[in-house]
Amino acid sequence: MVSTPIRVGFLVDGRPSDQQAAAREWASGRYDLDVIGTDDVAASMSHDVIWWHRAEDPSDIDEGVAAALADYVRDGGGLLLGLRAVSAVEPLGIDPVAPDAVGTASVSAPTGLLWRSVYDDHPAVEGFGGLRIPIADHGTVPFARYEAVLPAEGEVLASTVEGEHDRPVQTSVVAWHHGDGAVLGASTLAFGADPADEIAANRDRVAAGFVESLAAGPDPWFDRPVDRGGFERLRARLRDDPHRPRFHISPPANWINDPNGLIEHEGRYHVFYQYNPAGPYHHAIHWGHAVSDDLVHWRDEPLALAPSPDGPDRDGCWSGCAVDDDGTPTLLYTGGRGRKQLPCLATATDGSLRSWTKDPANPVIESAPTDVDVLETEHWEAEFRDHNVWYEDDQWHQIIGSGVADVGGTAFHYTSEDLRDWTYEGTLLVGDEADSGAVWECPELLRLGEKELLHVSNYEDVVYFVGERSDDGFEVESRGILDHGDFYAPQSMAVDDGYLTWGWLPEARDDEAQWDAGWSGSLSVPRRIDVDDSGDLRQRPADQLKDLRETQYVDSAAIDLDDERRELPASGRTLELTATISLRDADAVTLSVFESPDRRERTEISYTAENELVVDRANASEDPRARSDEQRMGVTPYDEPLSLRLFLDGSVIEAFVNERHCLTSRVYPTRDDSTGLAVAALGGRAEVADFSVWELGDAWSPSGARERRSTPATR
Ligand code: FRU
Repeated sequence: MVSTPIRVGFLVDGRPSDQQAAAREWASGRYDLDVIGTDDVAASMSHDVIWWHRAEDPSDIDEGVAAALADYVRDGGGLLLGLRAVSAVEPLGIDPVAPDAVGTASVSAPTGLLWRSVYDDHPAVEGFGGLRIPIADHGTVPFARYEAVLPAEGEVLASTVEGEHDRPVQTSVVAWHHGDGAVLGASTLAFGADPADEIAANRDRVAAGFVESLAAGPDPWFDRPVDRGGFERLRARLRDDPHRPRFHISPPANWINDPNGLIEHEGRYHVFYQYNPAGPYHHAIHWGHAVSDDLVHWRDEPLALAPSPDGPDRDGCWSGCAVDDDGTPTLLYTGGRGRKQLPCLATATDGSLRSWTKDPANPVIESAPTDVDVLETEHWEAEFRDHNVWYEDDQWHQIIGSGVADVGGTAFHYTSEDLRDWTYEGTLLVGDEADSGAVWECPELLRLGEKELLHVSNYEDVVYFVGERSDDGFEVESRGILDHGDFYAPQSMAVDDGYLTWGWLPEARDDEAQWDAGWSGSLSVPRRIDVDDSGDLRQRPADQLKDLRETQYVDSAAIDLDDERRELPASGRTLELTATISLRDADAVTLSVFESPDRRERTEISYTAENELVVDRANASEDPRARSDEQRMGVTPYDEPLSLRLFLDGSVIEAFVNERHCLTSRVYPTRDDSTGLAVAALGGRAEVADFSVWELGDAWSPSGARERRSTPATR
């Protein structure tokens, strides 16, 4: 532990402001405090912590002072930047990206820290027993925080809570490690006003935690994760969460949405994905990266793309794809900035696909087409995003998702010789708004032998069209929904013998529950998509998933049921089940999963005589923040017998029916013993054949389960 008293150098530049004076007074009662002027910084190296608490913008900081502070940190000093002093990280050379939101908040409800759950053992919040910590209740607070952009070098530890509302985008505490020292930016730590006792006590505990943790020296546990070790540390932190998927691709923590840039390269399978490193909410999107040698075991790689504060992708690197351009892996993705979203390109610097160079000419297409009335919305000048690129007839083809105002979703078609200079060719297909949505996201065209499959995501569903291209565009022969549940924005990887498709499995619980969990979203298992001899779509789990099978609990059992229920000799949350169900004269067969012994929690998956598969979530969770609605899909005309393959993984249920219909469901059983399985026939006789159950293994190497070191190093 740190020896007390802690020596704090309280930096005052000119006449102290009221905020500074109040903070100084607070600190002088606790620490061995010296007030230092800017001229004294160079001589203040012996302080455990220098605290700069400034209500004004520090951009006028003298270069010499900045250099002295930076040296102090590099040599192992602790620096606490309060209020707008956080902006000093840029002139100090601690972060090339400065906070972008500088202003004054007028506080009228209890306001404070919305701490990230993966960092809830930070000394500043240990013992609070909650992630929402009000530290002010009235007055004005000058702040400098990251909102549209994120720090390039720092790790966000907390956002903001305002009254009843979480404000994840308003980051409030950022940690940097610079040289041998540590920096904390706390833009909302205000001492000026006199809050209610309880809130003042919170603020004091938090402030003391900041000072004391800085005095103790950098703790690598709170380092920004940049490599596999860092991501494994996050995974280890979430390992005991029973809702975390174990064999699905999940983010190391924080937020995932669409799969992107799926490519097999030099014998490895690469999955990139939409990722927010600052917490489990959709914002400031980067590209995360996972790699596999066998399609079932995955490792984290460093983030592949980050928004460039000066680039067309400043607000986010949105969805896109990867192609092999004559040996150079190349990404096409959507850069967002302000009200514009436009295609950008990046090339891999080597075969590991770990680092990417953005094209200096980005964006590679300057605007959406002008020959149609492209939909403009509140957020976007033109809805124009997401890329699917393939090579055909000696040129590159690209489709981009969009919408035609008052008509419907569309995919624009472009061609190019070099992936950089694109010619607009027209619309591949325009949908009817009432029928398939106003905007199509993530369009993808798959060539399946004689037929082609175009799928698009329309905010609700993933709609697919099977047909053929002609000079007039895409002639639709049949259509459907790829997955009738919690599944969105899929993308496919071309493999030797076809395509493997992954989709995003969004959460089915509210934002607050996601924040508290510290992670949000998962990807589906890889699905082999093709068409059968009669041109109908097939969807099957990738063969490789069988390699995950470990203990087999039930082996090809046959179960006859007559209006009765049976508990099954298997249990767990990481399972694969197969069954062939014949209804005979029963109204339905129900498979109950994640069932507690008293049956109060259970998710029921029923095959009914109306030829439907129904997932009933009414009793799936005792957590009111989880969705409890029913999901259903028609399985006609393949009515009897029904072949079912089911994957259960923490909070994921993925059902494949008759190798063609899919329904994914997210459920959140709360009880440790909600692991049971039962099967029942309702209203008559039924037969369940070929019934097997396996425990499945872990896709993520648990080597990251390093223990957190108990005592941080002292300086
Ligand atoms: C689909 C989507 C895409 C967009 C991305 C942003 O889920 O909205 O249209 O590129 O997510 O993260």
